[in-house]
Amino acid sequence: DERTFVMVKPDGVQRGLIGEIIGRLEERGLKLAGAKFMQIDEELAHEHYGEHEDKPFFDGLVEFITAGPVMAMVWEGADATRQVRQMMGTTDPAEAQPGTIRGDLGLDLGQNVIHGSDHEDPGANEREIDLFFDEDELVDWEKSDAEWVYEDV
Ligand code: GTP
Ligand code: MG
Repeated sequence: DERTFVMVKPDGVQRGLIGEIIGRLEERGLKLAGAKFMQIDEELAHEHYGEHEDKPFFDGLVEFITAGPVMAMVWEGADATRQVRQMMGTTDPAEAQPGTIRGDLGLDLGQNVIHGSDHEDPGANEREIDLFFDEDELVDWEKSDAEWVYEDV
């Protein structure tokens, strides 16, 4: 199955939304493969958001993502990267559909609660997982309800 990188951002942690967000991913049937409660330093922030280095909002983005702890995670499932992005909703929570994580839990573009690897950027999921996790921090396990989530397992 596909793995994707997901992170509850500092605003989500401060607002007590870790459980809510993990709950939604669990309920969908996705499988947790790794989790780390940590604070991102300047260097990691620059690497993670390197694609936005030249954007006017970059400094603010780095300041925000390093401003408090994050819950970094790896989730696994069929088409997991795209499925998580769908559950997240659009980048700007003010435009995100109700029912999505950003659409239900956020109001502001700069503080949009969750990160998920971009499914339109091939390899972004693996790259971000490698950036945040060592191989031995990820767990390979069988979820006992898999046959009740997927018709063909
Ligand atoms: P991430 O999951 O955080 O990568 O969000 P995304 O993939 O939905 O959006 P993108 O990678 O394009 O932008 C990264 C982050 O930069 C977003 O989550 C926003 O918080 C912020 N951002 C994006 N565009 C703008 C903008 O035009 N203005 C401001 N202030 N922030 C922006
Ligand atoms: Mg992005």
